[in-house]
Formats: sequence, structure tokens, C-alpha cells
Amino acid sequence: MQLFVKCNMMHLTLKVETSMEATLMTVQTSVAAVQSTPLADQFSCKDEALINDWHVVGFSKDVVPGKLVPVRLLGRDLVLWRDAAGQVHLWEDLCIHRGARLSKGWIEKDTVVCPYHGWRYDGTAKCVLIPSAPGETPPAKARAFPHKAVESCGFVWASLGDPQHDVPFFPEWNDAEFRKFHAGPYFYQANGFRSVENFIDATHFPFVHAGLNGVQDSPDRIETYEVYEDPGLGLRTSEIVVFQPYGDHRQVPVKAGYTYRCFRPLTAYFSKRVEVADPNSKHKSKPTDRFCTFMTAQPVDEVSCIIRLGVAINFAPELTEEDILRRQDIVFEQDRIIVETQRPERIPIDLRMELHHRTDRLGQAYRRWLGSLGIHYGTI
Ligand code: FES
Ligand SMILES: [Fe+2]
Repeated sequence: MQLFVKCNMMHLTLKVETSMEATLMTVQTSVAAVQSTPLADQFSCKDEALINDWHVVGFSKDVVPGKLVPVRLLGRDLVLWRDAAGQVHLWEDLCIHRGARLSKGWIEKDTVVCPYHGWRYDGTAKCVLIPSAPGETPPAKARAFPHKAVESCGFVWASLGDPQHDVPFFPEWNDAEFRKFHAGPYFYQANGFRSVENFIDATHFPFVHAGLNGVQDSPDRIETYEVYEDPGLGLRTSEIVVFQPYGDHRQVPVKAGYTYRCFRPLTAYFSKRVEVADPNSKHKSKPTDRFCTFMTAQPVDEVSCIIRLGVAINFAPELTEEDILRRQDIVFEQDRIIVETQRPERIPIDLRMELHHRTDRLGQAYRRWLGSLGIHYGTI
């Protein structure tokens, strides 16, 4: 008889041999290499579509040398830091020695120091010092568990697997005609997909953003629009036009034409064509006036997320960053209050579970798309 026992941290195989003749039981043990993922990940996301994607885990400006930033992504506890050369690193928030949280430690001599026994890890994730054995070279297995982290458009992006796509790009980021700002983070006790679906939904404006993005007593009729799925590029719509009494930060009524895109399941975008509504003030806007928002949702776990935005504007140079951010903060707080109430918390991708209307065409396409990507985490 042979009995095999496996544990997650390492493969420990116990081979127990018995026979009629045997008078002795022999027990052989063999220890295979330590797995590349630590024990702590056992309750986190397993969906390849999300593991192998890029997710925003912070603003670049918030990751400064000498500071450890704890991050939670897809149910995993991670630590983010920047070395003296400016490179960002994202590791499991776990020391291989006894499982202490590295984020509770500190940075010294460009190494991360574990707070428990002081083991030090350098930018290659290798342990370079075990203080209780200062003259000895640490064993090769003494390593942190690194993940991929890159910076783009002022965000830190992470992948827990092998990314199958380029990092999503904010289309206006390199366009000198646009001023760019970041807004957030906004902490939602709500599912990331529900939060993205809220962002790409033009029919909630008159109610959730009454007086800003719509008029409660006179909601816009939403004409039928098109949704396109471009292989590998996600979803996009034709233009959806609405009236907004305080449609941009100038506090003037505008006719707003939204074109939405979903680059990835948790990265969406709109370009808003802005036209001053008052016929006597038409000269105040140009046909090219655009306000664009690049929205990222960090899936902390299945039922909470962190929203971070990039916004770009090519008109109204008199508006200050404070003017821009004040309005973003109001709008995303209004959204948070509603999205946190939605039940079930995890988004239903079986379209029979909620009622979809002609005017929810993008939301329906979004849910179908999530299903086609094989996403189960955060969905029902
Ligand atoms: S747990 Fe990190 S050094 Fe011991
Ligand atoms: Fe909203």
C-alpha cells in the first residue's frame, strides 16, 4: 500500500510500504522544492483571467522610497515598495521564515527588514542577512515571493500571474492638448465589477447625481446605442447623449456625449463630448471639447474595491486641480453610497438573475463579457 500526503507549502511525500512478508514498515520521506506561492494564498482568487491580468494597486506618487505599503489584491495580502534606484516591487506580505508580515517591518540599506527576526531581503527578493547567523550565507530558499509590478500613466499596476495583455493605457495620457489629473482613491465596500458597471451606466445620472449629471424630474430618454466587442480590446459604445445641469466643473448646463470603453474587466473609460447647452453661449465650447475619465478598480476581494481615476480635459484652462477633484469626489461618493447597497454583492453574470432593459445594453454586454472570460471570482 502506498500513502501520499501533500501539503501546500512543500510537497512532503510519505511512502508507506507493506507486504505480507514484511515485518518492518519502512517510511521514506522526500522533500521537493518549495512551491512558488505561499500557503497564505489558499483562499484567494484562482481565476486565470484575473490572475493573469494587470490591476492598479496604487498611485506612483504614493510609493516613495523608504516606505512599505500594504496592499490587498484579489484576496491576497501584498507589500509594495520602491528601492533606491526607483524600481517598484510587489511581494507577498509574508516572510518565508515564520510567516510574519513584511509590511510591518521597515526598509534599511535598500532591503526590506522583517519585523520578527530581522531577516533582510534585497530588491531581487533574496534574503541577504539572517541576523542570528551574521557570518553565514542565507540559504537559497530564503526568498520573498515577488509578483510583477510596473508603472504606467501614474499608476502602479500589478499582476499575480503571467499577463496576457499589455497594461491598459489612458488614451489622452500623452496628448499635450489635455491637462491630466488623478482622483481618488475611493474605497468602496462593494464588488469591483458592480462598481465598473456603475461607471459605464448612463441611466443612473438623473437619480444618483441629480442636479449634477442629470435632472431627476426630467430624466433623459436614452436612445438605442451600439456596443461593439473588439477581440482582445474589450468593449466600446457608440455615443450616448444626455443633458447635464452641472455637467462639468464650470457649473454650466451642457449637452454631454459619452463614448464608453471597457479595456479590461476592471479598467474602464469614457470620453465625454461637452457642448454648452445655452444656445446663446455656444461660443463657449468647441466641437473638440472633451472630458475623459480612465477608471480603475482594484479588486481588494470579492466584495470590496478601491477606485482610482485618471481624468483629462482639453478645455476650460481656468479650472484648477481643486475644482476638478472636488467634483470627482462628490460624484464618486454619490456612486459609492448606492453601489454598496446592491445585493447580491457579487455581480450576477447569468442575465436571468436581474432584469435588463434596452437601455442597459452596455451592462448586459459587460456581464456577458465577464462570463466569456471565465471569471468566477466576484461573480455569481
Ligand atoms: S518571520 Fe521573518 S524573520 Fe522570522
Ligand atoms: Fe455615477
